[in-house]
Amino acid sequence: MKLWGGRFTEAEDALTEAFNESLSFDKRMYKQDIRGSVAHATMLGKQGIISSEDSEKIVKGLESILQDIEDGKLEIGGDAEDIHSFVEAELTERIGEAGKRLHTGRSRNDQVALDMKMYTRDHLDDTITEIEKLIDTFERIIDENRDTYMPGFTHLQKAQPTTLAHHMGAYREMFMRDLSRLGDTRDRLNECPLGAGAFAGTTYPLDRDFTARELGFRKPTNNSMDSVSDRDYLLEYVFDLSTIQMHLSRLSEEIIIWNSNEYQFVKISDAYSTGSSIMPQKKNPDIAELIRGKTGRVYGDLNSLMVVMKGLPLAYNKDMQEDKESAFDAMDTVKNSVILMNGMLSTMTWNRERMNESAKLGFTNATDVADYLVRKGVPFRTAHGIVGELVLLCEKKKCALDDLTLSEYREICDKIDEDIYTSISLECCVKNRRTKGAPGELL
Ligand code: ARG
Repeated sequence: MKLWGGRFTEAEDALTEAFNESLSFDKRMYKQDIRGSVAHATMLGKQGIISSEDSEKIVKGLESILQDIEDGKLEIGGDAEDIHSFVEAELTERIGEAGKRLHTGRSRNDQVALDMKMYTRDHLDDTITEIEKLIDTFERIIDENRDTYMPGFTHLQKAQPTTLAHHMGAYREMFMRDLSRLGDTRDRLNECPLGAGAFAGTTYPLDRDFTARELGFRKPTNNSMDSVSDRDYLLEYVFDLSTIQMHLSRLSEEIIIWNSNEYQFVKISDAYSTGSSIMPQKKNPDIAELIRGKTGRVYGDLNSLMVVMKGLPLAYNKDMQEDKESAFDAMDTVKNSVILMNGMLSTMTWNRERMNESAKLGFTNATDVADYLVRKGVPFRTAHGIVGELVLLCEKKKCALDDLTLSEYREICDKIDEDIYTSISLECCVKNRRTKGAPGELL
């Protein structure tokens, strides 16, 4: 029997029922749904809208349902249309008539708005915790690798030397911004829609400040029509998740490159790699590739939500039920990706020697030779040209700038002295970059 069966005379079409139901995916909000109902029932009792005996009975009944679900004694299922109908039907089954008073002064429209907001808020808090753990990992890697030299790249071509600490520090910054974005979203989200009813409030003397407080919200929402039709907070959160996933994806791409046979900067631990069914020698960076790949689906989720909301007239429309699967998919994907990335990063082996060697090759200290000449009074643009010639010579000789003899240097520029060799050593190149935010600052 549906909650709304009263005005219907014919049975529901089977496909209509299947198409309409949301229990299969909104059942994960059972905790939030019950919490919201406990607050609503308590308030109804307090305001004398229902008797305090009924209110107590309802609260006890709801608590027993929650307990039984958590203990695995009650399975969420059957023919209920959604989680709201399921809980209400189960309550009435358990406590009788009083259960039928729970929905006084409430609509599923404000109920679902509340549940989804609380679910989002809980998930957002978990995401903050997981990102903080990831940042801890970056900080540990930074501390241990202030003088681990590696090449820095532009256009994926070796550019200038840097350190692993500096490189990981860049990711730390990205995830710090993500944390700050999550904080903003949480703050804007934290207004309680409960009490908006279907969209126009209700004739009962609800205490919306009370329920907002009970449920940990800063205040009740201002406009009851907006309360039931707003999904901005979800869009905002899924945008935050998309940005997190984009950061994870960029890091994954680097890990995949660093883990390749050609680079061998890192070795991903067995726990985060898989093998090939045909090539026995292979150990593939599948988790990093999947994090990169799943970024597409998270962006897709964001896009679905944007499109669902576009053009909806006020107030509630059933289209909004379509917010859930995309939002939950983004939430699950990003949370798992953050946890896996953290595990992968903290168990990865850094091949410091290999990074060091690689930083020495590829003329990463060419800018430093130019800077050396500038210190000897040569204008930078002229110095740039001289170093270009030196690089050409090295390419012909198949050697590094450090390997040229002093007379070879002097043939091209007589301003160069013996001190060139210490000035362009890897250590010196990094140490001398002490601009605020540069790798030398971390040494
Ligand atoms: N399952 C619905 C949803 O997720 C709950 C709200 C139903 N409200 C309604 N008026 N049909 O949106």
